[in-house]
Amino acid sequence: MEEGAALRPAACRAKGGAPGFKVAVVGAAGGIGQSLSLLMKMNPLVSVLHLYDVVNTPGVTADVSHMDTSAVPLVVTSDGGFLFLTAPHAPYLNCDRLGVRGFIGQQQLEAALTGMDLVIIPAGLPRKPGMTRDDLFNKNAGIVRSICEGVAKSCPNAIVNLISNPVNSTVPIAAEVFKRAGTYCPKRLLGVTTLDVARANTFVAEVLGVDPREVNVPVVGGHAGVTILPLLSQVSPPCSFTPDEISYLTNRIQNGGTEVVEAFAAAKFADACLRGMRGDAGIVECSYVASEVTELPFFASKVRLGRGGAEEILPLGPLNDFERAGLEKAKKELSESIQKGVSFMNNWTEHVYSLRTLHICSLGVDEQQIAFGYWAPSSPDF
Ligand SMILES: NC(=O)c1ccc[n+]([C@@H]2O[C@H](COP(=O)([O-])OP(=O)(O)OC[C@H]3O[C@@H](n4cnc5c(N)ncnc54)[C@H](O)[C@@H]3O)[C@@H](O)[C@H]2O)c1
Repeated sequence: MEEGAALRPAACRAKGGAPGFKVAVVGAAGGIGQSLSLLMKMNPLVSVLHLYDVVNTPGVTADVSHMDTSAVPLVVTSDGGFLFLTAPHAPYLNCDRLGVRGFIGQQQLEAALTGMDLVIIPAGLPRKPGMTRDDLFNKNAGIVRSICEGVAKSCPNAIVNLISNPVNSTVPIAAEVFKRAGTYCPKRLLGVTTLDVARANTFVAEVLGVDPREVNVPVVGGHAGVTILPLLSQVSPPCSFTPDEISYLTNRIQNGGTEVVEAFAAAKFADACLRGMRGDAGIVECSYVASEVTELPFFASKVRLGRGGAEEILPLGPLNDFERAGLEKAKKELSESIQKGVSFMNNWTEHVYSLRTLHICSLGVDEQQIAFGYWAPSSPDF
């Protein structure tokens, strides 16, 4: 076999190597990103794993690539990315091993995303003490926008799992970016709310005194405070709670964000997406998606995952009075968060337009030069 041809990761699947998907983790060096990368490396449905961040990616990639799971990096390349080999011989020809590749900095975003089937985005700041929701929004909105512009350009057909908070607003931002790029497909944009379900299962199992793996609590609405609406009347297996238990559980699930932060739930959701993409039947998870379940354009509910992403949005099912009241509260806050995301994008467009006009007037850059990419806005974190 010709050495050059054998070494090219992209050639592996075409050559009948391991079946699997190409997955990128964007924000791979962060708290969520590192554990998530490790968990994705262990996932047998992943054949190529790209780890991207604006800092520290080489170290994380080295760590992940040295795990002695079935995943062994394929080859070192000279095109700016990092590709680690842990064994000197076999990996060259054995395409059923996983390629782990690290990318760092904005200039490598395109290479990190090109050809990806699934892009998982935990990039951005978590909320820290003293930080307002607006502070978090302003920082993460810009980060999500620029990453999604990269997705639209480099892998427009990829399914996106968006983890960066505030998910209630970042998903509408991503949708606007994709709409403007002409690549928007609502089925492929999924806000990750599995963490709320994982917490709900754990807390309900504690109250019931059973194994959390046996419990399934649908959690609908959104992914912050009162927008997180656990449907305790629809818990599987069927059970009932006293009013005190309902109030305690609802409050704890809605505020669970302060108790635990984990990548496990994100990896579980990504795995469900990959199984759906493979064509497995009956994969149902809660996710924050474009929806007609309520009058709001985005809403978290159970969705059936398939080859194209969220193939079907399932109805809420019967709600009791407590849940109906919770739903009204959730909708009010959600509506504001969605509007905030859309306004951010409208303001960004206006900002770009006025910068553009300024450049045309002051620098003599003309419309044609802009159209050919001679000029682009210089403040990515606007
Ligand atoms: N949806 C969920 O269930 C859920 C759960 C936990 C955390 N989160 C959110 O996920 C995000 C990450 O949390 P964390 O604890 O890992 O934070 P962190 O600060 O530890 O990590 C964030 C990472 O994002 C990187 N980053 C920043 N800008 C980037 C860019 N433009 N491109 C690529 N990477 C970039 C940072 O360098 C850092 O490595 C936060 O917004 C947090 O609120 C969501």
